[in-house]
Amino acid sequence: MSILFYETTKTFHLCNQEISYIMTVLPNGHMGQLYFGKRVSQREDYSYLYETASRPMTSYVFEGDRSLSLEHVRQEYGVYGTTDFRRPAIEILQPNGSRICDFRYKGHEIMKGKPGLAGLPATYTEKDEEAETLRILLEDTLTGVTLELLYTIFAGGGILARSAKITNKGEESVHLTTAMSMCMDLPDCNYEWLQFSGAWARERHLKVRKLEQGIQAVDSRRGNSSHEHNPFIVLKRPETNERQGEAIGFSLIYSGNFLAQAEVDTHDTTRVLMGIHPMGFDWKLEEGESFQTPEAVMVYSERGLNGMSQTFHRLYQKRLARGYWRDRARPILNNNWEATYFDFTEDRLVEIAAKAKECGVELFVLDDGWFGERNNDHAGLGDWVANPKRLSGGITGLAERIEELGMKFGLWFEPEMVNKDSDLYRKHPDWILSTPGRSASQGRNQYVLDFARKEVVDCIYEMMEKILGEAKISYIKWDMNRSITECYSAAFPPERQGEIFHRYILGVYDLYERLNTHFPQILFESCASGGGRFDPGILYYAPQGWASDDSDAVERLKIQYGTSFGYPISSIGSHVSVTPNHQVFRNTPLHTRANVAYFGTFGYELDLNKLTEEEQEKVKAQIAFMKEHREVLQFGTFYRLKSPFEGNITCWMTVSEDKTEAVVGWYRTLSHVNMPYTRVRLEGLDPELCYENKETKEIFFGDELMNIGLVTSDGMCGQMEENTGGYGDFDSRLYVFQAVRKD
Ligand code: DGJ
Repeated sequence: MSILFYETTKTFHLCNQEISYIMTVLPNGHMGQLYFGKRVSQREDYSYLYETASRPMTSYVFEGDRSLSLEHVRQEYGVYGTTDFRRPAIEILQPNGSRICDFRYKGHEIMKGKPGLAGLPATYTEKDEEAETLRILLEDTLTGVTLELLYTIFAGGGILARSAKITNKGEESVHLTTAMSMCMDLPDCNYEWLQFSGAWARERHLKVRKLEQGIQAVDSRRGNSSHEHNPFIVLKRPETNERQGEAIGFSLIYSGNFLAQAEVDTHDTTRVLMGIHPMGFDWKLEEGESFQTPEAVMVYSERGLNGMSQTFHRLYQKRLARGYWRDRARPILNNNWEATYFDFTEDRLVEIAAKAKECGVELFVLDDGWFGERNNDHAGLGDWVANPKRLSGGITGLAERIEELGMKFGLWFEPEMVNKDSDLYRKHPDWILSTPGRSASQGRNQYVLDFARKEVVDCIYEMMEKILGEAKISYIKWDMNRSITECYSAAFPPERQGEIFHRYILGVYDLYERLNTHFPQILFESCASGGGRFDPGILYYAPQGWASDDSDAVERLKIQYGTSFGYPISSIGSHVSVTPNHQVFRNTPLHTRANVAYFGTFGYELDLNKLTEEEQEKVKAQIAFMKEHREVLQFGTFYRLKSPFEGNITCWMTVSEDKTEAVVGWYRTLSHVNMPYTRVRLEGLDPELCYENKETKEIFFGDELMNIGLVTSDGMCGQMEENTGGYGDFDSRLYVFQAVRKD
């Protein structure tokens, strides 16, 4: 990996074994983008990539010279209104009312490793040799505002991390109204756009469409990254599939309002912008103040979508997630939410936990309802003190009882929220986000605490710290159950109200950071009504997230498949729940529920006492299986093989790093009669190794399984007596392969 600068042509070339990223200083001093893609040879002069041919109906930068129009030129951080008419990466409202800026190259610095971003989650290095960082300094001389563009290239993988820092070195305050994390101008538009969208309980469904002239975008204006869209998009060539072809993934390490968009212009150039949503954003920069954008990560792959996802998985697993749990297989848990909802007593919880322990579960999690007057979802949020009517010995007492069973204990919080029926609200009614003179909308009967204010975050921290300090708590589920409305903080002046959405999320990060630091061994699982804040920003603090409130195995195929494009399997919270399922009322077999949940953190969202003895025996076997294989399931190299968005069969697999173990998950949504012969070509195995199917003891070479395929046809024929083992609808199978010597 290296970052080269050619003084004569003012050209930068960032490259590693896989990618090249090339840019240059344009004649007007702006930064121009020349190339991003598969690694190319070094040369001093790439100016042929900078196209100067003049075109009709264009404005030009220099008088009497038709060679430079920003409309034609691909840029690194586009500005609007000085011959470029595309959406800009930056916009600054100045004291004279103008928004025109002119950032010119002043200098640069190349450093080893990667600096952190103050107060923000970001990828990191552990050793300097892992990455190099380029900081380019630009200045708008009229206002004195400087712009620093930060680029980090990692030694391995087609990864480039970007962010920007804006500093007001002028003498008057200015308002930053747009500050994107990245701007990437690609030379053509022959791409398909992939987004991961849906709704509550239907998160991260894959949607694909062709790029077209005009703007296509996904965003959130809800204060969280949202169930509706995810801060992650992919551009792939039309011929690219999971196995081969070019794809570029764009991911934003941020949990608040975001915008990810592609604008195809009249000459088929594609501008990708990603960052904090400019709508409503207005950050006042006094003299000497700076604003740091969140980080965006771009991953280029020529090994198809699986190759791109695997790069994201490794990066986010190893160099975004942090701490004690980063590299550890995750405990198998039993959460009481779908088992009891608000209707529990301490003894009932212990009864659930005891059966879970008997089956092999390692962690019991007490969900909502343990604090204040929280008997339903109308009261109690904000009062983080155990309800003695439910828990006579408090959280400490319950945690002790769980620990005595030989299990770890985990607890639910929703730190950012308050009910009006709570002591906290009665004491501090002005601590909620609400606009003066307007009514405050509620969501699930709750209001959003003003996390832009330090004293609010401090107060919640103290309550949580007290409980976590007193009781033996090994895990926290951090929930967030509504979007933000009437976003206005009583503690900030009118001209700073456009900062509140971002300040809010900085407050959330601050609370996470303090808790992570003070309680480094607690495992955090993020949650926002399921998958409403499943984003890379939160992964920095919580290495796993409850992927969706929809726990139905069939629904989960799409949710987990979609999630896997940008997020590692170890981050996907997935549990077995009861049938009929509580969200879609579907009956799926127990083995299929587990076969889906294995590809995630794994756990149970039910009362195991309510299962038959036969089912409990099956659960014991499932848990034993997970314990044996969770390393490869959670941390192996993951491949999507057959998409639930394209057909009745879903298939995926994971392979251990040394390629000696593989687990394949195969799922058939609906059963049909007299079905065709089928095979699935596996991936990632060693072609020369022999693999034993652990169940059937059949042995195959890796190259057979990858080139000929795994035969998945079964005996589902026409008559009952001809059925050789098929299950019916919602069937699934796991194939476990172990490398063996063939004598
Ligand atoms: C929403 C979460 O997604 C559920 O798992 C559960 O924790 C409830 N909130 C509790 O109110």
